[in-house]
Amino acid sequence: MSQKELRDKINISALVHDVSNAVVNESIVLKQMIDGEYGSTLQEIKAILGSLWQTNNRVIQLIDMYRSARSIDRFIGVNPSGIGEFDICDLLNNVYQEYLPLAKSNGLKLHSEICEEYKYGTKVNGDAIHIYRMISNLVKNALQYTKTGDVFLKLVNQGNDLTVLIEDTGIGIKSEELANIFLPFYRTEASTNVDSSGSGLGLYIALMVASSHGLRLSVDSIVGKGTTFTVIFSYKKDKPYGLDDTMFIKIGQAHALPGRH
Ligand SMILES: Nc1ncnc2c1ncn2[C@@H]1O[C@H](COP(=O)(O)OP(=O)(O)OP(=O)(O)O)[C@@H](O)[C@H]1O
Ligand SMILES: [Mg+2]
Repeated sequence: MSQKELRDKINISALVHDVSNAVVNESIVLKQMIDGEYGSTLQEIKAILGSLWQTNNRVIQLIDMYRSARSIDRFIGVNPSGIGEFDICDLLNNVYQEYLPLAKSNGLKLHSEICEEYKYGTKVNGDAIHIYRMISNLVKNALQYTKTGDVFLKLVNQGNDLTVLIEDTGIGIKSEELANIFLPFYRTEASTNVDSSGSGLGLYIALMVASSHGLRLSVDSIVGKGTTFTVIFSYKKDKPYGLDDTMFIKIGQAHALPGRH
């Protein structure tokens, strides 16, 4: 397969991947609504309807972006027209709300420790749609590869940096497989046993978003105990976290394929 064919394949697969994640979440919520889990009056279901509406809008934005993005870098990296300042605490809260129904349906507890006191606030410069995709894929994996127990979504200061942690008590990843999990279409054997439907793209998308925003994405895992993914937004004096002008110049430069962590 040529580089261009591989890029085209990744682009369309990434669209299908993230649209499918959102639609599956919506379907779970709709079934829970039908079963009366959110109440029966409009007032009672209004909050969950709002969450569904937001998820749907994100799907529409993704499809629009796919249609207009001319390159893989824009579709799974940074879209220059989508760059702006946003509050990472709000974004994490939206991811948390979107995944609560899936956690419930999988019999897991999803916890959030995200909007506390932070040394330099929680303003981030970047492409919010892509940052959402990155975090969303990490939370989705944590819920997918945990049979029982808990998943934590945390936002903490580590020194002056702002750090997002996604921790689970799931199946874990063998140390010899850690180097491969960020490669496109790579899945471990253990994950195939848990769920045969994955395509092995979630972490590749997450890595592309992180690297194009200058974020550090890393993983620690113990088989049978759990996994922690860490995303570090480095502190920059007198600037928001995330993208700065020097990084913006790099946007549009092709990513090497296949991507390695
Ligand atoms: N939280 C986790 N716990 C255990 N294994 C994980 C976790 N996150 C990722 N992995 C491993 O990394 C592999 C790659 O993850 P990735 O999200 O890229 O693909 P996938 O989940 O298999 O499929 P897709 O995301 O396309 O549905 C997974 O197959 C799984 O083996
Ligand atoms: Mg995945």
